[in-house]
Amino acid sequence: MSYAIVGFGKIGQALAHAFARKNIEVTVASRRQPEELAPLARAVGPTVVARSLQDALGAATIILAVPFGEHREIAKVLSSWKGKTVIDAMNSFPVPPEELDGLLSSAFVAKSFTGAKLVKGFNHLVAAILATDPVVEGGHRVVFLSSDDEDAIDPVADLAKQLGFAPVKLGKLNEGGALVHARGRSWGPLIFQDLFKKGQ
Ligand SMILES: NC(=O)c1ccc[n+]([C@@H]2O[C@H](COP(=O)([O-])OP(=O)(O)OC[C@H]3O[C@@H](n4cnc5c(N)ncnc54)[C@H](OP(=O)(O)O)[C@@H]3O)[C@@H](O)[C@H]2O)c1
Repeated sequence: MSYAIVGFGKIGQALAHAFARKNIEVTVASRRQPEELAPLARAVGPTVVARSLQDALGAATIILAVPFGEHREIAKVLSSWKGKTVIDAMNSFPVPPEELDGLLSSAFVAKSFTGAKLVKGFNHLVAAILATDPVVEGGHRVVFLSSDDEDAIDPVADLAKQLGFAPVKLGKLNEGGALVHARGRSWGPLIFQDLFKKGQ
């Protein structure tokens, strides 16, 4: 399985630390040239490799960690998203719900990535917390996963486990997934809940 993180700001770097901690290879990209990102990537760990956006999107699983409105720019880079898994770590805050065609933000994002399987996850914690070791006193930090492609959740749950998190599957985006969505300026009740699961 190959992984990429698009967006190498606060959330992108927090997730890159999680990959580096477990020596799992991940490519990272932004609008900047890879040479510019490379020192930052190397500082996170040797398994974190800066690439051009186009090259990074060659990965099978791509985590979106860009400002919400930018997802459309990324979607345009590939002519087909078939076979890809896109993990939406974004929150639409402060985009008003009226701008999302009546959809929850991840369902709105999914429209741009036709053919991909979209899983919402890693979006509910502030970056400073997400960046820290998810294994604390024998417990594993919980991350919530939801998707309208139910078979897409399991591989992302496996990744979350490999990274040291305890995945909790919430089902479809507009069912359990609604608990981790921001709606305009109001946050779903699971957002910011820093929960741990004992054991795995
Ligand atoms: N910060 C948090 O605590 C937090 C918590 C949960 C969820 N989130 C969500 O995570 C997402 C990222 O937030 P952040 O705080 O990490 O933002 P950030 O620190 O501003 O980082 C955004 C990153 O996206 C890159 N970027 C912007 N436009 C791009 C494009 N068109 N193509 C490729 N890369 C692009 C930027 O790099 P370049 O300028 O080099 O392109 C930068 O590396 C947001 O949707 C936010 O709602 C944030």
